[in-house]
Amino acid sequence: MYLVTGATGNVGAHIVTSLLTMGTAVRATSRNPATAALPAGTDIVPATTGAETFAGVRAIFLNPAAVHDRAEEFLHQAASAGVRRIVVLSSSSVLDDHPANYTGILHRDLEQHVAATGLEWTFLRAGMFAANTRQWATAIRSEGVVRAAHGHVPIAPLHERDLAAAAVRALTSDDLLATAPVLTGPELRTPAEQAHLIGRAIGSDIRFEEVDPATGRELMIAQGLPPRIAESLLRYYEHALAEPIHPTPSLPITTTRHRVVIDTGSTTTPPTSGPRRFRHFHRGLRAPPLGDVGPPPHHRVRLSRAAGSNAAAAATTTMTAAIATKAWL
Ligand SMILES: NC(=O)c1ccc[n+]([C@@H]2O[C@H](COP(=O)([O-])OP(=O)(O)OC[C@H]3O[C@@H](n4cnc5c(N)ncnc54)[C@H](OP(=O)(O)O)[C@@H]3O)[C@@H](O)[C@H]2O)c1
Repeated sequence: MYLVTGATGNVGAHIVTSLLTMGTAVRATSRNPATAALPAGTDIVPATTGAETFAGVRAIFLNPAAVHDRAEEFLHQAASAGVRRIVVLSSSSVLDDHPANYTGILHRDLEQHVAATGLEWTFLRAGMFAANTRQWATAIRSEGVVRAAHGHVPIAPLHERDLAAAAVRALTSDDLLATAPVLTGPELRTPAEQAHLIGRAIGSDIRFEEVDPATGRELMIAQGLPPRIAESLLRYYEHALAEPIHPTPSLPITTTRHRVVIDTGSTTTPPTSGPRRFRHFHRGLRAPPLGDVGPPPHHRVRLSRAAGSNAAAAATTTMTAAIATKAWL
């Protein structure tokens, strides 16, 4: 039995579906079990966890958004109930120790709590989600415009389904045990380019208007983001400017047929970087021993839905656009 927290969210919903498709038993938490629209067969339990939540659970997908300020209690309950493994939805922001980087601090603390439990762990250090562009939906619908700061900083938006695929692999195999892979999408796209791609997908011209960071912060707060999250997002771009993101165009995880397998790099990686990158991948994946609370070494995992970097890049562009279409039409 696997327990998925945040199961109705951007990432959790894909995990639940994948696990059910694999034929495994899934329990999911929600604050509103009665209205949680999850697939038939999911055992939906209240987010206020009790002993029954963890009964028979082997591994947990832990979404910080869902446990909020109860992480320590949650982990204690899980360990006491005999859960063996925690897969954390962490953030690549843990690698940026700037004091304004609230999400980095939050996820670093959580990683440390999890490591201290003595349970098996994987920290999936996700980069910026492709779904974040949904913040722009209202302005696009009403004015055909995206206003944001750092419009020309390249980032590599990560599709939540790819993140979910990595989570399923971490839950159901030992391949990512005690590792902290950084997960990015396969191609660099500036916010201005993303706005343009969304426009293409919904068949309309979308203007991108660069604003200064202070205005960008106010806009994000007006869109409903808590101030600290808005500040963390701005910091993400500043960090990406100082330390450019190296996207992971084709990666040794593929998700074909709902099964995640390791690709040795020989078929999906460009010949110039294949074996070397794969060795690097393995070296990088060795995270610190439990008890060492410092951030694990920086490394990247490359995710792909198709056998080939171009196909993967195209897929992500399409996926980003598909999200946009759903949110905005
Ligand atoms: N967005 C990014 O670019 C990014 C990048 C890296 C890491 N992350 C991390 O990913 C996590 C968010 O993942 P996500 O987008 O899948 O989550 P999400 O969709 O925002 O939320 C997941 C579920 O958690 C529950 N939830 C939300 N807020 C809650 C609260 N205050 N208290 C209790 N339950 C709450 C909701 O389920 P119910 O209503 O059913 O209870 C929601 O469907 C965050 O920890 C974030 O820091 C995000």
